[in-house]
Amino acid sequence: MNAALKNNIRILVLNGPNLNLTGTREPQVYGSVTLEEINRSLTDAAATLGIAVGFYQSNHEGDLIDRIHAARSDCDGIILNAGAFTHYSYAIRDAIASVAVPTVEVHMSNVAAREEFRHTSVIAPVCIGTVAGFGSFSYHLALAALIERFKND
Ligand code: DQA
Repeated sequence: MNAALKNNIRILVLNGPNLNLTGTREPQVYGSVTLEEINRSLTDAAATLGIAVGFYQSNHEGDLIDRIHAARSDCDGIILNAGAFTHYSYAIRDAIASVAVPTVEVHMSNVAAREEFRHTSVIAPVCIGTVAGFGSFSYHLALAALIERFKND
């Protein structure tokens, strides 16, 4: 695990519908930290490792798909919280499979302990792994997992 990281790693943090409201939306489920604060803490954590992180959020399926397509040429890994699209968007699933950029699925809440419809993820099979249930720290765990992956490449 001491392998050096290759230079200029770029990671995209992609958030889907309603995640722009993180911090005020159902705080008992998603916490009170805003998406902007989460993004700032990820930037800080990545900077200490010399890794660049970019951010994109959209409430629209097609925009998320376009951003995943663009990731083919502008990033090495994706941290994806697809929100409710996780549970039914075959189009997002296919986009991830099409670009072959290692993607970690993220959820702040423990989806397995919530409503039945949240127990299914149609994107999980095309992701390298899933982190769920740790609030905003789920994103940091996903970042650590991707970095570990790059060390092993
Ligand atoms: C979520 C879980 C989803 O089921 C939900 O639709 C979200 C957020 C999470 O981060 O816990 O929007 O992805």
